[in-house]
Amino acid sequence: MYNAQQMWNKAYREKRDMAYPSEYVIRILKGKYPRLNLDKEAFKGANFLDMGCGDGRNIALAKECGFKPHGVEITEDIVSKIKENLENIGITDADIRAGMNNNIPFDDAYFDYLMSWNACYYMGKETHFGNYVKEFARVMKSGATLLLSIPKKSCFIFDGCEPAHKGYATIRNDYFGYRDGEILRIFQDAQEVEETFSPHFQNFIHADIHDDCFGLAYHWHLIICNKK
Ligand SMILES: C[S@@+](CC[C@H](N)C(=O)[O-])C[C@H]1O[C@@H](n2cnc3c(N)ncnc32)[C@H](O)[C@@H]1O
Repeated sequence: MYNAQQMWNKAYREKRDMAYPSEYVIRILKGKYPRLNLDKEAFKGANFLDMGCGDGRNIALAKECGFKPHGVEITEDIVSKIKENLENIGITDADIRAGMNNNIPFDDAYFDYLMSWNACYYMGKETHFGNYVKEFARVMKSGATLLLSIPKKSCFIFDGCEPAHKGYATIRNDYFGYRDGEILRIFQDAQEVEETFSPHFQNFIHADIHDDCFGLAYHWHLIICNKK
């Protein structure tokens, strides 16, 4: 039986060094594009949550951009590892806590920005993705910005997967070898992502990554929107 906490603990325990920030997070936070040019001045002192922040690789970037950085990961072990990783690069003021997409350990209307980078579609024991949408909305201020990356159905993650209940798939052939048995939310297209978030969010901006990365189908929806 797949146990997300055990598997991710193991994955992060085996990883010695913190990864670099995601190229596309750098682009979003620092770049200027025809459909996206976030107000960098508004970043200063704003509460930023990296939800499912992994080894903490994007937290240093958030801090450098002027945000007050916060992170959530699914076990206390991973939280300790993130704090250690950040201390190693001189960051001691990030607020990192243990929680899940359906149980975010922060007060209502606390965040100005919430980013879930390659992390919002992991279902674990939760069966309704809508509960994640509600929980993200709960901790965000009205007008706050949500930043998401979500695999397209053609992404390598879904190679060899099995359909689970409608809109969900079970990983069966994990390229990295530790997620077989995990259930993921699988969206048909960007329109379906938008419809799913639209009860609580508006002003959707879409981009997509559609790379053949040396044989790996690196295909993602990037979605930016505001809490209603
Ligand atoms: C592919 S990693 C991405 C990590 C990080 N955001 C990054 O970009 O490096 C997916 C992350 O989602 C976390 N995760 C798994 N299930 C979760 C859940 N139910 N709620 C929140 N995070 C979850 C995992 O612990 C893992 O760190």
